[in-house]
Amino acid sequence: MRILIATAEVSPIAKTGGLGDVCGSLPKALAKLGHDVVVVMPFYRQAREWFTRNGVILDLAHPMTPISWANWTADAGFLRTTLPGTDIPLILVANEYFFDREHIYSPRLDGIDDNFDKFTFFSRAVIRGCELLGVTPDVVHAHDWHTALLPVYLHSGLRGSENFGNARSVYTIHNLNYQGIAGADRFPILGLHDRYWAPDALEHFRDINLMKGAIMFADQVTTVSPNYAREIQTTEHGAGLDGVLRLLSWKLTGILNGIDMDEWNPATDPLITTHFDAGNLNRKAGAKRTLANDVGLRYKPNAPMLGVVSRFVDQKGFQLLIPILERLLEAGAQAVILGSGESQYEDAFSRIAAARPEDCCAYIGFENTLAHRIYAGADILLMPSIYEPCGLNQMYAQRYGTVPVVRWTGGLADTVVPFDGTNPAAATGFAFDSMSPADLYAATWIAMLNYNDHRTWKTLQTNGMTEDFSWERSARQYEEIYRRAGA
Ligand code: ADP
Ligand code: GLC
Repeated sequence: MRILIATAEVSPIAKTGGLGDVCGSLPKALAKLGHDVVVVMPFYRQAREWFTRNGVILDLAHPMTPISWANWTADAGFLRTTLPGTDIPLILVANEYFFDREHIYSPRLDGIDDNFDKFTFFSRAVIRGCELLGVTPDVVHAHDWHTALLPVYLHSGLRGSENFGNARSVYTIHNLNYQGIAGADRFPILGLHDRYWAPDALEHFRDINLMKGAIMFADQVTTVSPNYAREIQTTEHGAGLDGVLRLLSWKLTGILNGIDMDEWNPATDPLITTHFDAGNLNRKAGAKRTLANDVGLRYKPNAPMLGVVSRFVDQKGFQLLIPILERLLEAGAQAVILGSGESQYEDAFSRIAAARPEDCCAYIGFENTLAHRIYAGADILLMPSIYEPCGLNQMYAQRYGTVPVVRWTGGLADTVVPFDGTNPAAATGFAFDSMSPADLYAATWIAMLNYNDHRTWKTLQTNGMTEDFSWERSARQYEEIYRRAGA
């Protein structure tokens, strides 16, 4: 099958979260199954810098050319390389105005958020790029709201074109809460027939909703864990789209994300200094010492080290952690918090860390090396998410023998087996249910008690480290979905 993956993020080139990880590693798993995969993403400033840093020279696949649709024209250039470490073609869509910005989702210089226009342009450019470069996919696999227009365009007549004549569309929801919403006045820039301005198309309570459009018109819809696929069909978790998802549940499937088992491997990871695996777990202490040194904490080998690696947004549940973090430190834990995002969380973590510099570090920023070192060096990973479509951190943590404490939601419930004292053969972590700081405290405290019981702890670590989180099974499920879509 010829599969086109269109996405806003691809790790390691440009990512802000798990979308990048998935779109960097799923293509490899699909290629391994024998498919012809092409990945297309924007040529952000961050992408240019990544290629320069890594000495990659890009081919000019097609020079700047005007792309016109509706009453709009914008220029796109197309660069070509391969997904790092593979021979999978990667096409980059260049446009300085939209993509040469400080962050990949940065607004315009005047502060106005034009991501809606940016990704409308990107979607049109993907189509034009395929025509110019002779890409003829059997499946267009679009991800999240940024590329949600592609299934809509396929439905609205693109299948009449030479390049997309046989193309089917698959749409993956990584996060239902970011839907690509704009006022009705933006509808003309989409270049769609008026009949797409309707409640059974892109209109949602008088706004444009790109995610709704993709759910309506994609041949198949997936989301990133089976549990989240169930949750988003409820009013509580459906973010206003649960009705549509229930109606179309016949074409909705939850496929658990995998992780790149080569990149995230404590035995070979080039970003950590002490290597270990399930057979020599005592060496993990070396990773803990490195982590403490890196972030300036006093090295206390017997104090449980809590880790957080995250975007600081409401989704991640830090409103539960902040009120109890100091008590956890008083109870004997240390903590390394890595993340950035909303200033209320950045400030609160920084304030707690400043008051207890020997035991708590808050590193505000996006730091891939430190992220790897936290998964390797921490004892416990905290992930109290309010909702979590899949979550990759808890899988990375388990791979590195770091035991997760999670809230029982979304993909966290599909990937962590909570220890309840009776299930040492299967358990990999700890969980709590309610959205209460006290319950997060209790779950973490129970984890800390078990940390002191070396035999039990080693069992939990080993269970997690030997869990199969590889992409292979999920890639086969995507293959099945592409077939169901008609490819
Ligand atoms: P989400 O996509 O909702 O942010 P995931 O758990 O799926 O959550 O994926 C998060 C990814 O982003 C992981 O690869 C994690 O290591 C990475 N990440 C998040 N925040 C940071 C950060 N501040 N520095 C480095 N990596 C980060
Ligand atoms: C989203 C979700 C996260 C998921 C990731 C990759 O960002 O928030 O739970 O793991 O996408 O699918």
